[in-house]
Amino acid sequence: MLHLHHSCLYFRTRLAVTFAVLLGLMSPACSDISGSWPNVLLMMADDLGIGDIGCYGNTTVRTPNIDRLAEEGVILIQHLAAASMCTPSRAAFLTGRYPIRSGMVSSNGLRVLQWVSVSGGLPKNETTFAKILKDKGYVTGIIGKWHLGLNCESATDHCHHPLSHGFDHFYGMTLSMMGDCIGFDLSEKRVGLQRRLRFCLQVVALAVLSLAAGKVMGLASVPWALVIGSAVAALLILIASYFLGPLIVHADCFLMRNHTITEQPMKFQRTASLMLREVSSFLKRNKHGPFLLFVSFLHTHIPLVTTEKFLGKSLHGLYGDNVEEMDWMVGKILDYLDKEGLSNSTLVYFTSDNGGSLEYQLGNHQYGGWNGIYKGGKGMGGWEGGIRVPGLIRWPGVLSAGRVVAETTSLMDIFPTVIQLAGGAVPQDRVIDGRDLLPLLLGTAQHSGHEFLLHYCEKFLHAARWHQPDTGTVWKVHYITPIFQPEGTGGCYGRIMCPCFGEGVTRHDPPLLFDLSRDPSETHVLTPATEPMFHQVIARVQQAVERHQQTLSPVPLQLDELRNIWTPWLQPCCGRFPLCWCDREEDPNV
Ligand SMILES: *[C@@H]1O[C@H](CO)[C@@H](O)[C@H](O)[C@H]1NC(C)=O
Ligand SMILES: *[C@@H]1O[C@H](CO)[C@@H](O)[C@H](O)[C@H]1NC(C)=O
Ligand SMILES: *[C@@H]1O[C@H](CO)[C@@H](O)[C@H](O)[C@H]1NC(C)=O
Ligand SMILES: *[C@@H]1O[C@H](CO)[C@@H](O)[C@H](O)[C@H]1NC(C)=O
Repeated sequence: MLHLHHSCLYFRTRLAVTFAVLLGLMSPACSDISGSWPNVLLMMADDLGIGDIGCYGNTTVRTPNIDRLAEEGVILIQHLAAASMCTPSRAAFLTGRYPIRSGMVSSNGLRVLQWVSVSGGLPKNETTFAKILKDKGYVTGIIGKWHLGLNCESATDHCHHPLSHGFDHFYGMTLSMMGDCIGFDLSEKRVGLQRRLRFCLQVVALAVLSLAAGKVMGLASVPWALVIGSAVAALLILIASYFLGPLIVHADCFLMRNHTITEQPMKFQRTASLMLREVSSFLKRNKHGPFLLFVSFLHTHIPLVTTEKFLGKSLHGLYGDNVEEMDWMVGKILDYLDKEGLSNSTLVYFTSDNGGSLEYQLGNHQYGGWNGIYKGGKGMGGWEGGIRVPGLIRWPGVLSAGRVVAETTSLMDIFPTVIQLAGGAVPQDRVIDGRDLLPLLLGTAQHSGHEFLLHYCEKFLHAARWHQPDTGTVWKVHYITPIFQPEGTGGCYGRIMCPCFGEGVTRHDPPLLFDLSRDPSETHVLTPATEPMFHQVIARVQQAVERHQQTLSPVPLQLDELRNIWTPWLQPCCGRFPLCWCDREEDPNV
C-alpha cells in the first residue's frame, strides 16, 4: 500500500509537470515552470569500499551523514560499477554504456588515464546525461574529479573537458588526486612510469648489445643509424621521464574553474573547503532550478589528503579519518540543500566509482578501503569487492524512506534514470546498457532490467552474472581471475594492482561458477557434482555473452599507449613551463 501511495504521488508530480509544460507552451506569460522538474545531486566517492560505511554494516567508522541518506531514502545492496577502476567506471556512469563501447579501456595494462597531458579521453561523439539534461534546460555542474581526459591536439583545445560534454560549469581536478600529488610512496602512476622506464632500458641495453656484437663480429651490415637512433631516443625518453617526471606529476595536480587553471600546484589543506564553497554557491545561484550537480569527491583516494580537524580522529588511521571527513562534507552538502529549501525537490544519489584498494593495506597502515564480506577489490575485473559499491538514493515525499532494493542495479542506470526524470529521451542511435531505476525505486516493478551484467577488466571479459528470473538466483561466472599474491590473500600485494591478462591471471575452462544469492563472498566454487544446474547455467551465460559481443563494434581504445602517454605539447600550465605556478583562489572559510 505504501509503495502504491508513493508511486501515485510521483505520477501526480509528473502529471502536474506535464500539465504545466503544456500551459507554458500555450501561454508565454506563464514561464516559471522550470522549478517543477526535480533537481539532481549526484555524489561519487573515489575508491571507497562498500564496507566502509555504517549503513552497509560498518560499526566503527562514523558516517552518520551518508547513513542518513539510507534512512531517508532507498538503499541498493547489489549496486555495481561497470569497471573496477576510475576512468572506465566513470565513463560508463556518464554515458550509460559499458566502457568497451566508448573505448574508455585499455588493452595493455594502463588502467586509467595516466597524465593530464594525454590525448585520450571521453570521445566527443559520446553523449553524457549532463548533455541531455542541459538540452532539457537544466543547469549542469561538476565539482571535483573528472579523470576523463582534457585535450586532443593542443594544451588549450579542451576537447575532452567537462564543458565539452554537457556541463555548464566545472570546478575541480581534470585528472585525479594521486599519490604523486604530495609524493606519497604509493602511486598507480609511478607503476605505469616504471613499466615504461623498464621498456626504455631494455631498448638501450639491446642497442648497446647489438653495437658490441657488431663490433666483435666485425659485421658491416648492422643498420647502425637505426640502432644508434633508437638508443638515443630511448635514452632521451628515459632522461625526460626521470627528471621531468616529478615536475610534471606535481604540475598535474591543479584546480581548474571552467577552462581556467586557478591553482597550480594545489594547496591541499584547503581543497575540501574550496569544493564545499563551490557547491554552496552553485546551489544558491541555481536554487530556482532545475539543476544537475555532480559532486565528484577527491576522497578517499590516496594520498588521503585530510584536513587537520579530522586527523587522528577515527579508529582506522589516515584512511578512516579521510572517510569521516568525506562524510562530514556530505553532511554539509545536505545542509546547503536544506538551507536553500531544496531537499524535497532534489533527488540525491551517493555511490563510489569502484571498490576499496586492498593493495593499499601495507604493513601496519591502512591506506585503502574495506569491501566487507566481498572478495577482492579495486582493479579486479570480476570479484565482487572491486565492483559492488554503495548506492543510496533519496527523494523525500516520492521515494519511501528506508526501502531496501536487492535487485541487480548498475551505476550505468543513473543515465536513463535522470534523463527520464528530466523528460528527456535516451539516444536511439547506440546501445545503452543502463536501465531506468525509477520503477524499482518506487516499487512499481519487482525486477531490474538487468538479467545479465558483464564484468570487464580493461577490454577483457573476466566475469558475468545472471539473475535467473524464475528462481531469483544470482549466478556468477568467472572466465578469468587474477592470481593473488601471496596466494590465499584477496589481493596482489606485490604489484599495487592485479593485472587483467598475461601471466598474472588464470583462465578457467570450464569457468568458475558461484551462486551469489547463497554465497555472496564467492568462496564455494560450484562443480557439476555439487550443482545440477552447472552446465545449463554456463551455457545460458555463454549465450548471453555472445549476444552481447555481437553488439560491440571496434572503436579506438582511449587508454592505450599512444593516447595515454605524456605528450609535452598538451601540458596545461599556469605560468611558464616547466615552472607552472599560480594561485588565483581566495582562502575559503567554510
Ligand atoms: C570498517 O571500516 C574500516 C575502514 O576501512 C575497516 O578497517 C573495518 O574493518 C570496517 N569494520 C567493519 C565491521 O566492517
Ligand atoms: C563557466 O562557464 C559558463 C558558460 O560556459 C558560465 O555560465 C559559468 O558561469 C562559468 N562558471 C564560472 C564559475 O565562471
Ligand atoms: C518534505 O517532504 C516530507 C515528506 O513528504 C514532508 O514531511 C515535509 O513536510 C516536506 N518539507 C517541505 C519543506 O515541504
Ligand atoms: C564515435 O566515433 C568512433 C570513431 O572515432 C566510432 O568508431 C564510434 O562508433 C562512434 N561512436 C558513436 C556512438 O557514434
